[in-house]
Amino acid sequence: MTATSPDSPDRPLKVIQWTTGNIGRRSLHAIIGRPDMKLVGVYAHGADKVGKDAAELAGWPEPTGVTATNDIDALLALGADACCYNPLWPSIDELVALLSAGVNVCSSAAWITGGKQTPEDRERILTACETGQSTIFGNGAHPGMTNMVGMVLSGSCERVDEIRITESVDCSTYESADTQSAMGFGQDPDTPGLAESVRRESEVFAESAAMMADAIGANLDKLTFDVQFTAATGDSDLGFMKIPAGTVGSVFGYHRGWVGDRNVVSVGFNWTMGDHVTPPKPLEHGHVIQVFGMPNMRTVVHCLPPNDWTEPGFMGLGMIYTAMPVTNAVPSVVAARPGIVTLADLPPVTGRFAG
Ligand SMILES: NC(=O)c1ccc[n+]([C@@H]2O[C@H](COP(=O)([O-])OP(=O)(O)OC[C@H]3O[C@@H](n4cnc5c(N)ncnc54)[C@H](OP(=O)(O)O)[C@@H]3O)[C@@H](O)[C@H]2O)c1
Repeated sequence: MTATSPDSPDRPLKVIQWTTGNIGRRSLHAIIGRPDMKLVGVYAHGADKVGKDAAELAGWPEPTGVTATNDIDALLALGADACCYNPLWPSIDELVALLSAGVNVCSSAAWITGGKQTPEDRERILTACETGQSTIFGNGAHPGMTNMVGMVLSGSCERVDEIRITESVDCSTYESADTQSAMGFGQDPDTPGLAESVRRESEVFAESAAMMADAIGANLDKLTFDVQFTAATGDSDLGFMKIPAGTVGSVFGYHRGWVGDRNVVSVGFNWTMGDHVTPPKPLEHGHVIQVFGMPNMRTVVHCLPPNDWTEPGFMGLGMIYTAMPVTNAVPSVVAARPGIVTLADLPPVTGRFAG
């Protein structure tokens, strides 16, 4: 048995890591440690990271000899098989450059089906895949793993009425102020257009709802979004951002897919930040995955520390949970047909035995 997937080249896959933030550095750590992958390049957005060894950026004990760069042409010239793409804001230009150069992309950055892109941008991506004979795939914890679990659970049902997925968590330890503000936190709940802006920022969840609908054979007539903001009753200082009293401290919403008047897929969130807010529904501290039908199925996925967890706090666990569904998919994505592929197309994305 080789360490690579049966459909992969009989050598370690050459992988680029794109950015090393909360999620990217967890991906980088995993790539460095995997015998079936060879880290060949690291893209850095931050000037302070350029020139640093990947080991320093990932918290790996020995130098790798691979230093971070912002020279995209140099990265494209590496002949990489794949790129783990984890920037804060994805760029169609970057994706087109990677895919056209034949680099398969596994992304956590707002990509599941590409359905939220403009027709022009989606066409550019498909043309790039054709040119480079490459594949783009998006995954993560939520969206991503949660949708996979929902689709798998639906396999237990004779009849599926609705798949409903809710991320029900306190997000205070997710230190990405830009992401959190984009989702409404810390803003005046009466800000005109706030619900629409949260819909737009979270539209990748609608992509994941559409993917699940496709998987269960439901032809959606429309996708909608509803959200409820709850104001904090006191000030919270989270270090990386503040939630002042009177501003949004809880965001509860769903992207829903409909067949006629039947809500068949729902993907959403019951998020809080800070100590001074009561969300519309009690938090379940995990991903609540429900399939309604015959029978009803329900599970809550919790991400918990193993005995050898040494980091202060548990934020890192969620980052690993988000990063690994992307990084672990690399062998299957490299082996997949060119174009856009989703979780519904690939074999199950599994982790690796720590042998
Ligand atoms: N599906 C899921 O479950 C899920 C969950 C959480 C997040 N995500 C997505 O995963 C991606 C990464 O999240 P994260 O928490 O790791 O983000 P992050 O740490 O806030 O930022 C990631 C990296 O993006 C680069 N960056 C920062 N500001 C930028 C800007 N203005 N323009 C372009 N790049 C910038 C930096 O790269 P350098 O490190 O090179 O400086 C930063 O480290 C995001 O797109 C996020 O929405 C998905």
